[in-house]
Amino acid sequence: MDLRRPGAGSARSIDRSGPGRARIGSAVPTLDLLVNNARRRVEIGAEESLLSVLRDELNLTGAKYGCGEGQCGACTVLIDGRPTRSCVTRAASVGGSAVTTIEGLEEDGRLHPVQQAFLEADALQCGYCTPGMILEGVALLRRTAHPGDAEIARAMEGHVCRCCTYPRIVRAIREAAGVSAKAPGAAQGPAPVKQP
Ligand code: FES
Ligand code: FES
Repeated sequence: MDLRRPGAGSARSIDRSGPGRARIGSAVPTLDLLVNNARRRVEIGAEESLLSVLRDELNLTGAKYGCGEGQCGACTVLIDGRPTRSCVTRAASVGGSAVTTIEGLEEDGRLHPVQQAFLEADALQCGYCTPGMILEGVALLRRTAHPGDAEIARAMEGHVCRCCTYPRIVRAIREAAGVSAKAPGAAQGPAPVKQP
């Protein structure tokens, strides 16, 4: 798969909006995306990654380039609510789907509860992994309102934090869910998050 690295050059935005999907047959394919509830039309390369389009065309730089191979989770976004590695997702494959990036979580200037919990739990150092971690946490809490530490650790497997803030990340998600460490299903103390 020849998914281009963000910053390595990419298609140009033609800055229009409207319904539809990628027109792969045209000289420069265009793609209509629904990103953070806004319709965006971009020109794309046939193999261009969603991460590249988000960062280079739409200036949504919250999703990060880490490994570029689907292994670290730094580029995670939600596609129709599912956490997805955007570095290994072809942009052309997501026309018609709803894409949510970290920039789309706040509402009316207020942070999403998981974002707020990360701040309050001090669950980041450099912050490179944080957008992906938060979006994974948001998806988890939509599936399971009150996860235990083991469920949280399982959901976060595959997300790498080079600063090793794993215990605070687990605590932040637990607190966003309103689950105390002594609640049913919660383990005694934060569970370590396994690295892939
Ligand atoms: S950059 Fe996509 S998983 Fe690492
Ligand atoms: S806070 Fe630095 S990589 Fe996670």
